[in-house]
Amino acid sequence: MPTSTRTPFIGGNWKMNTTRGQALELAADVARAAAEKAVGPQVAVYPPYVWLETIRATVGGVSLMLGAQDCSPEANGAFTGDVSLDMLTECGVSTVLVGHSERRHGLREPEERIAAKLKAVLGRSMTGVLCIGETLDERETGATDTVNEMQLRSALDGLKVRDPGKLVIAYEPVWAIGTGKTASSDDAQAAHAAIRTVLVSILGDAHAQAIRIIYGGSMKPANAAELMAQPDIDGGLIGGASLKAEDFTAIVDAARA
Ligand code: 13P
Repeated sequence: MPTSTRTPFIGGNWKMNTTRGQALELAADVARAAAEKAVGPQVAVYPPYVWLETIRATVGGVSLMLGAQDCSPEANGAFTGDVSLDMLTECGVSTVLVGHSERRHGLREPEERIAAKLKAVLGRSMTGVLCIGETLDERETGATDTVNEMQLRSALDGLKVRDPGKLVIAYEPVWAIGTGKTASSDDAQAAHAAIRTVLVSILGDAHAQAIRIIYGGSMKPANAAELMAQPDIDGGLIGGASLKAEDFTAIVDAARA
């Protein structure tokens, strides 16, 4: 059970998965489970862009937030293939992932672009989930905290954060994503505590204590409760296990147990 007063945040990142039919079915199952209990974590799903409108009516509401996996930092213009925050807002999106490792490392998205996206998201009072985390090489050379601090500072230094409830940090060690390997709860807690210390120095103590820091990387029903029992682990960002309604709702239940 989370020991802080922060409301846990659980996000389901569907990545580039699901057909239209599967998306509808998954959204309906998750929405039903999320609505069952009035009190609990904040829950969001991040489907592929093309299913946002499809599942909007099923998902939209206070108990389940509709999210986007990425966005453009620009308002509009000649940016082929990009999707603006205005467009996402019109689709009912209220939360956006920024800097996911599959874009940061996989697509070599630069730090400045990640920072610009987060600024744009928070500037619209949407909930921004900033993803950070070290690679296996970085972990093995003891650079975990240094890398996390660099990624945090490059996105947050100079940023105005009016509402700390609308900024979520997702610590996702790259080596744990989609690999079945999970950080131990002690290692994850140590990284989260170090992240919170950096948040104190950038944003001050009150904001740092209010910001949710969630864990991502092979979180599943079997390990969710232990991870989220750590004092600085305020929820999870779930990939593979978010594609099965039963597993995802078990993780949501673990957060509100
Ligand atoms: P997995 O849960 O599949 O490891 O993915 C984690 C993730 O990348 C969530 O954004």
